[in-house]
Amino acid sequence: MTKVAILGYGTVGSGVYEVLKKNRDVISNKLGDEIQVQYVLDLREFEGDPVQEVLVHDIDQILNDTEVSVVCETMGGEHPAYEFTKRALSCGKSVCTSNKELVEKHGPELIKIAKAHDCSYLFEASVGGGIPIIRPLRTSLAQEEILSITGILNGTTNYILTKMETEGLAFETVLARAQEKGYAEKNPDADVLGLDACRKISILTSLAYGKKVDFTDITTEGITAITSVDFAYAKKMGATIKLFAKSVKKGDKHYALVAPFVVKPENPLYAVKGVFNAILVNANMGGETMYYGKGAGKLATASAVVADVLDCARHPGKHLNIKWNDEKLEISPIDGAVRRFFVRVPVTDEAQIQDVFGEVEMLKGVADGECGFITEEMTEASYREKAAKFGNILSMIRVD
Ligand code: HSE
Repeated sequence: MTKVAILGYGTVGSGVYEVLKKNRDVISNKLGDEIQVQYVLDLREFEGDPVQEVLVHDIDQILNDTEVSVVCETMGGEHPAYEFTKRALSCGKSVCTSNKELVEKHGPELIKIAKAHDCSYLFEASVGGGIPIIRPLRTSLAQEEILSITGILNGTTNYILTKMETEGLAFETVLARAQEKGYAEKNPDADVLGLDACRKISILTSLAYGKKVDFTDITTEGITAITSVDFAYAKKMGATIKLFAKSVKKGDKHYALVAPFVVKPENPLYAVKGVFNAILVNANMGGETMYYGKGAGKLATASAVVADVLDCARHPGKHLNIKWNDEKLEISPIDGAVRRFFVRVPVTDEAQIQDVFGEVEMLKGVADGECGFITEEMTEASYREKAAKFGNILSMIRVD
């Protein structure tokens, strides 16, 4: 029997408890062993909830129990999750977490501590909620050189963009409705400004190349400037607009970017709607693989935490290695990245536009008083230079 403690009985923690209870037989059949929740740590009381029987308020009770071999850290936030995780690992207890903030900030250090104490630090649930993506990168694709990762890694923004597209609504209207329904946070900044997706692509890039990516090195743009007019242009192009988190290896250079992109139906990520997430990985031998599912939500995220618990239960007293060094992975400035750009400007002669941007594909008659065009491929630096020269740019969205 593997005895487990859950730190935090919030959305994900209570989900882990539920998954382990409801799927008890499924799990023991597949594992050939039982998983038992020995403790749940939370400051609160939960009168009338069966969890009360295993509820404790003192982390030391868990850490001092030598029978507990796996700890699920579902508290979120940096503190005290960081301290509790370090202490659990130092006692030789494996930690399985959904806490992307902690993973992104302290991943290499926590893996090192786990290794030194013959236990594991696993974090399948930290990116893409219930989508298996960490394990594929760590194991199934370990033989591959990863050429690119493109993800729709944030459900809130994908929901907002999908609603803007299908209902022709403004960003603010959809956001307000999403907040009313509880789909979007009261403070949605981390989601709509692209910061959540940025942390997630930073973790995936670190795992793909085994070095530490500093998420502040990743150019990040959110979706707050996207309007229904942009979607009208996208429709004319037979495309949609998605917030992509991208990580690309070109030669020995790495580029990473979080930004809205014009996406054509040929891209499998075009079909990812609503709160769903997906990650498209391009590897040098096997080519493209795609991972799709619920990027958030109680049971989906909890299920990914439990998958890690099972992995630990299968390897008692062993360290499951995740290559992720402290060494910094240099992310090159996006200036050198080459792509096409969709640009909106006040009504202007095509010749005048071509004077600055070269050959363009014009998009006329979509909105009053303006026109749009798509450039040929050029570097980000070259686009910026031309845009500055042209002057009056209403908006720009990169084309995938
Ligand atoms: N706020 C995130 C999202 C879920 O909307 O995808 C947690 O990572």
